[in-house]
Amino acid sequence: MAATTTTTVLLLVFAAAVTLTSTTPATAADADAGLTTFKLYFHDIVGGTSPTAIRVAQAASSNSSSTFFGAVVAIDDPLTTGPTRAAGTEVGRAQGTYTFADQKTFGLLMVMNFVFTAGEHNGSSLAIMGRNEVLDDVREMAIVGGSGKFRMAKGYVQAHTIDSGATSGETVVQYTVNVKA
Ligand SMILES: *[C@@H]1O[C@H](CO)[C@@H](O)[C@H](O)[C@H]1NC(C)=O
Ligand SMILES: *[C@@H]1O[C@H](CO)[C@@H](O)[C@H](O)[C@H]1NC(C)=O
Repeated sequence: MAATTTTTVLLLVFAAAVTLTSTTPATAADADAGLTTFKLYFHDIVGGTSPTAIRVAQAASSNSSSTFFGAVVAIDDPLTTGPTRAAGTEVGRAQGTYTFADQKTFGLLMVMNFVFTAGEHNGSSLAIMGRNEVLDDVREMAIVGGSGKFRMAKGYVQAHTIDSGATSGETVVQYTVNVKA
């Protein structure tokens, strides 16, 4: 029974791989050649006694804007290897700012470094910049550089919210990092 199940799973994986290979345009495959991919979980804590995201600037009109246009938030957000902030899972911090940069929807300009303080990337950093339309399922932003093992890095991240934080005051976002250094 177990062997049959394993065979079935392997066949499904193989079929999926063949499908992906045959439908992925050559240009996308070329662009992704040599990329290293890993996942991190970003915790934007706006509530509680120890917030890691603090509104530092705004226009007089920002609060009356339906999209908080003009507000700027400084962040020093934990980055963990899993979706919770369990002990020993923090590998770095996301440090920088996000600006509410869109008057029509929640469109943030993210300007931040992923600063690695533990794990295999300890001591290195990634510089990330891009548009984060937070209500979209997946948002893509650019990796524009880095330091240490990520010197001269390029690539992209894909952000996917897994907890909006509506009740907890802590938004959790999965970041899939695709980087070439
Ligand atoms: C906007 O709202 C925030 C949060 O309620 C408040 O702290 C801030 O003082 C308000 N700013 C202005 C300019 O009204
Ligand atoms: C990360 O690197 C620093 C500098 O080399 C080192 O002092 C520190 O112990 C490392 N931390 C972990 C958790 O590996």
